[in-house]
Amino acid sequence: MAKILIAYDTTEGQTRKIAQSVGDSVRRGGHDAQVVDIRRPPSGFALDAFDAIVVGASIHLGKHSRRLLKFVRRHQVRLKAVPSAFFSVSLSAAGSDKEKADAKRFVEEFVQQADWSPTVKATFAGGLRYREYGVLKRWMMKKIAKAGGKDTDASKNHEYTDWTAVEQFVRSFLAGLEPRQTEKGDSKL
Ligand SMILES: Cc1cc2nc3c(=O)[nH]c(=O)nc-3n(C[C@H](O)[C@H](O)[C@H](O)COP(=O)(O)O)c2cc1C
Repeated sequence: MAKILIAYDTTEGQTRKIAQSVGDSVRRGGHDAQVVDIRRPPSGFALDAFDAIVVGASIHLGKHSRRLLKFVRRHQVRLKAVPSAFFSVSLSAAGSDKEKADAKRFVEEFVQQADWSPTVKATFAGGLRYREYGVLKRWMMKKIAKAGGKDTDASKNHEYTDWTAVEQFVRSFLAGLEPRQTEKGDSKL
């Protein structure tokens, strides 16, 4: 059994929801999962305690947050020492082929900037959480949604995440873990 960290950065909450689902899938796969918001790490939190690391974050105005970049740079040594995965959440990933290519480009730009080569990378469609937006953001997102053919009913939140794709991402990450990581618990028997 491996001890797997799922660290995420979210603004409106969709990446948290996906990170929690990743944690649930990891546990169903027979491993230990800890899901951590990088804005509020628990006291004494250390990446050294984990055998594998999944990082998730969302796109706002064409990029991942500066906070995420700092987090990955700060923990680069550990991220390079263990199997790691990155998932990026955006509206582009729910769009046309060109927009999906943009979502992948955001990931490539980020990992290059952060000097990190995750074993597995994925882009997931996020959502439009109108109920979490202030007046200005709601107005702006309605315009963007209209232009992109997405939901414009701002009285409720809309979700485009493909949960089967999330499950597959976890499965492919777990399948790539070394027996050393997956059989750690057994070796103690
Ligand atoms: C102010 C704002 C700007 C956004 N900019 C982009 C963008 O440039 N490209 C994109 O694909 N999605 C963009 N999105 C969509 C978000 O990536 C999407 O809503 C995602 O689900 C947010 O995840 P989070 O709730 O974890 O922060 C934007 C959303 C907001 C509210």
